Amino acid sequence: MTLHLTVLGTGYLGATHAACMAELGFEVLGMDVDQAKVEALTEGRVPFYEPDLEPLLRKHVETGRLRFTTSYAEAAAFGDVHFLCVGTPQRKGEYAADLRYVESVADGLAPHLDKPTLVVGKSTVPVGTAVRLQQRIAALARVGEEAELAWNPEFLREGFAVADTLRPDRLVVGATSERAEALLREVYAGAISADTPFIVTDYATAELVKVSANAFLATKISFINAMAELCEATGADVTVLADAIGHDARIGRRFLNAGLGFGGGCLPKDIRAFMARAGELGVDQALSFLREVDAINMRRRSHVVDRSREMCGGSFLGTRVGVLGAAFKPNSDDVRDSPALNVAGQIQLQGAQVAVYDPRAVANAQALFPTLGYADSAVEACEGADLVLHLTEWQEFVEMDPSVLDAVVAEKRIIDARNALDPLRWRAAGWLYRGLGRP
Ligand code: UDX
Repeated sequence: MTLHLTVLGTGYLGATHAACMAELGFEVLGMDVDQAKVEALTEGRVPFYEPDLEPLLRKHVETGRLRFTTSYAEAAAFGDVHFLCVGTPQRKGEYAADLRYVESVADGLAPHLDKPTLVVGKSTVPVGTAVRLQQRIAALARVGEEAELAWNPEFLREGFAVADTLRPDRLVVGATSERAEALLREVYAGAISADTPFIVTDYATAELVKVSANAFLATKISFINAMAELCEATGADVTVLADAIGHDARIGRRFLNAGLGFGGGCLPKDIRAFMARAGELGVDQALSFLREVDAINMRRRSHVVDRSREMCGGSFLGTRVGVLGAAFKPNSDDVRDSPALNVAGQIQLQGAQVAVYDPRAVANAQALFPTLGYADSAVEACEGADLVLHLTEWQEFVEMDPSVLDAVVAEKRIIDARNALDPLRWRAAGWLYRGLGRP
């Protein structure tokens, strides 16, 4: 019989996981306490931008293999395996993760569990959460310890969420019983038969794999951004340096793009929650380097503001700045902790008139920073600009012919804060081009 899966929490991770599990042939029920979200998904609408997700969602809503509900009782009755996919944001005024959604799903679901079941945590949580959650679920469930828990962290990247879920580069499972492992082997049979590494371990290791992977990625980005600072002090070129060290297979070229640094809903909050957890465990020294990683990253933003002010002649007062990009990275409409918006906001606060354009993220940016100016196109954003800032490397900007902006800007000056434009092309078109960490 086909396994029945539920997905609890239908945000970014959950909606993607639900649609992908339906694509793999399972019967799937998505559950969320947010009625509006459930209605949108039931109509085949994804409430955020993720390439490839909406067609997949629509396909399986139409076949009836994928449904959504707001009822825990219905989810409990339906599912053989329940995937827990809610968010773990940063606590207000603290570094630690806020686990209230994870706990409320466990508390909502468990009392309805009256047959042997497996709950599978996918959310990013502080190490030690799974063992507590397992006890909480077993205490509340009518079947007691037969309501089991496994931890199966998610590594998907926004913009590639569907591909990353259908073809993961590894599967990590923290499990305490053979039954739990066997069920997850059944869920991921396709990927396993395609030789995807399937790593079975304890809860703590599974939880740590996720946060340590994100900590490593953040460190890699801040490393190259620190090198960019040295390059600027010496006239060296960080892009050439990254290519050259990247040829060493032990280092690798990916995630060595120096620029405005990392943002988004994961890396910044995950490294902070990781530091907070290390402190609770009495090993804060082990992660004190992440404080520096965070500091290097935040310095990128003020560095771009400083370079921009310089290029505007020492003050932003009375200047116009055209901003290309608002999302925290291309192919996403996500503006959570977006470096681009942070820079745009700071520049406006210092007196510039700012107009922001992004191919997808303007609506979300407007909701978060309503006082910034917004435009419907790159050309409109750059009208009368004394300076253009390239802050999110959408393909549309990378491919843009400088001549389309020539006629509208007041001054042909651009800072390429993602080092993604072709300097020769912009300089040949008469622009004063500045990258970061490049001569
Ligand atoms: C990240 C992890 O990659 C993913 O495995 C995890 O599950 C969630 O967090 P995501 O937040 O979607 O995914 O973004 P990612 O592609 O990792 O980029 C993060 C940030 O780093 C972006 O702001 C991006 O612009 C920046 N970045 C990335 C750089 O500044 N330089 C690089 O070389 C790569």
